[in-house]
Amino acid sequence: MKNNKQGMDGEKIYQQRFGRHLDELRWLYMELYDNGSMFAELCDRMERFYTERKDELKSADLERESHKDWYQQKCMLGMMFYIDNFAGNMQGVKARLDYLEKCNVNYIHMMPFLDTPEGRSDGGYAVSDFRKVQEKLGTMEDLEDLTAACHKKGIHVCMDFVMNHTSEDHEWARKARQGEGEYMSRYFFYDSREIPDQYEKTVPQVFPTTAPGNFTWLPDAGHYVMTTFYPYQWDLNYRNPRVFNEMMYNFLYLANRGIDIIRIDAVPYIWKELHTSCRNLKQVHTIVRMMRMISEIVCPGVLLLGEVVMEPKKVVPYFGTVEKPECHMLYNVTTMATTWHTVATRDVRLLKKQLDIVNSLPKEYTFLNYLRCHDDIGWGLDYGTLLEEGMEERSHKQYLNDYFQGYAGASNSRGELYNADPVTGDARFCGTTASMCGIEKARTEHGAVEAEKAGTKHGAVEAEKCGTKHGAGALEKAVRLDIMLHAYMFMQSGIPVLYSGDEVGQVNDYTYKEDPTKAADSRYLHRGKMDWALAENISNYDTVAGKLFQGLSQLEQIRKKEKVFVSNADAWTVETGERAVLCMGRYLDGDKVIGLFNFSEYDKKVILNQVNGKYVDMLSGEERELGEIVIPAYGYYYFKEK
Ligand code: GLC
Repeated sequence: MKNNKQGMDGEKIYQQRFGRHLDELRWLYMELYDNGSMFAELCDRMERFYTERKDELKSADLERESHKDWYQQKCMLGMMFYIDNFAGNMQGVKARLDYLEKCNVNYIHMMPFLDTPEGRSDGGYAVSDFRKVQEKLGTMEDLEDLTAACHKKGIHVCMDFVMNHTSEDHEWARKARQGEGEYMSRYFFYDSREIPDQYEKTVPQVFPTTAPGNFTWLPDAGHYVMTTFYPYQWDLNYRNPRVFNEMMYNFLYLANRGIDIIRIDAVPYIWKELHTSCRNLKQVHTIVRMMRMISEIVCPGVLLLGEVVMEPKKVVPYFGTVEKPECHMLYNVTTMATTWHTVATRDVRLLKKQLDIVNSLPKEYTFLNYLRCHDDIGWGLDYGTLLEEGMEERSHKQYLNDYFQGYAGASNSRGELYNADPVTGDARFCGTTASMCGIEKARTEHGAVEAEKAGTKHGAVEAEKCGTKHGAGALEKAVRLDIMLHAYMFMQSGIPVLYSGDEVGQVNDYTYKEDPTKAADSRYLHRGKMDWALAENISNYDTVAGKLFQGLSQLEQIRKKEKVFVSNADAWTVETGERAVLCMGRYLDGDKVIGLFNFSEYDKKVILNQVNGKYVDMLSGEERELGEIVIPAYGYYYFKEK
């Protein structure tokens, strides 16, 4: 093996990393599988993946091992997109890297791009081959070429590792379907309803309306198979060490293509046990901890991002402990949902409480912050606290869904329900940030959409001009809310991730209804094609795209520059006495920043008793005393102490 800059040969480095984790890894593996020869095979393959790993990636591993907080820096800003919607294919993404740089983005999450059957793909979350890129998007070589090009520009690449299930078209599934016992044992097969019925008693449903039940009958095979998500997504059985080993080889194979961040999809679901909810079982943590050790041995520069869309007390254990970490990063999902609750109620109390919970966690825990992603928004709020304020869960969820559809309250939002469950009365919500902030409504009601459709590629500019005075006011207000929400999100500790198109105010895309393979899944409403015509307007401040892009850019520049925005700075909230205004503080090494965010459409005055002294408005550069201060409707301030 080659020498590296530290003068130690690669073999030695590997053995050191391996030695550091061997005892614990063996212990956990044997506890779960009690299978020494499979463990030996795993160790052998790990070393082979290390040997095959490219020198550039190994150097990055060493660099990151010596700066363990490399991803907690203030400059981190992510963007997520579907490759085809964003740029056609992988080569197209490469050609758009300059645009991403303009967006200040240095982390891209490319939505699932591995082989998946057309029309039975769940947005790519049904993988039929973990070693093959979807033909329309490119090849494995294109992927390696793209990750290398990203790395040259300092852009990190995130991909999904869909490990809970495979597509029914996966080779294993096809063999299982034909009755090959070894392959059947990689899934959950039952020849009668007996066991499936027992599971159904305790396992909740993920897609109660679009894919009810947790099992699918396969008439040709004469068996039921467990399908927690869609019927074509077959749950893998991690009781079988062959499944664990093979999936780890896939994981390492993908890491070696130059992936920096691996998003472990639907991770709470990977272990199943009769008479339980089949969520968050302790074996899930054993598996994630093993994954963490395996990646620390083979590719320590790779981060694990856990997708745990659950309440805080279920999310936090996925960080593991400081001594025995599991995921590097998790979604700040409750904060995200609570943010929209705050938009609908103009009452920051619950959000303040939620931020206090997050701020009290160890600083090593890094959250991915976002306003929305490719999935629906589930109303997972702290209903215990809301009940104390007289808000009952079912009726409040109903209110939020009505509000964001634009039916209730002083709402300008547009969007659609997702998986409305007639039995529980539960429903989740879909919409882009711009639509939920009122940009879509402000345009539609003033004929702007028609103008945009009829117009040239600069139609958007015309469209905005053709609005009435009132229309312009509504649009202005919506843009203010949109930027304020980003300003508030950028103040949180962790890594902010934008959904592509949100930076230019892209609205809902209703065309999914015309595609029979998508029509039943309203999440496609907010997964539209990137509208590059909007992006042409980013320098034109007279357009919504320009206002948003420049507003966000100004905040992103501040965030990149000021040290208080590193993830492990002190962060806290301050009581403002005004329900619609949230006050957040950050402190690091003598620098202090205070943020004020007005969640209402009216100007609000606050008196900050706990914050006084001289401050500089970080956006305008003006100096001022804090104390009594008016925050304009849907406005915000970033103040830095002098
Ligand atoms: C995750 C994905 C979601 C997908 C599901 C099943 O929750 O975010 O889009 O439907 O996993 O793979």
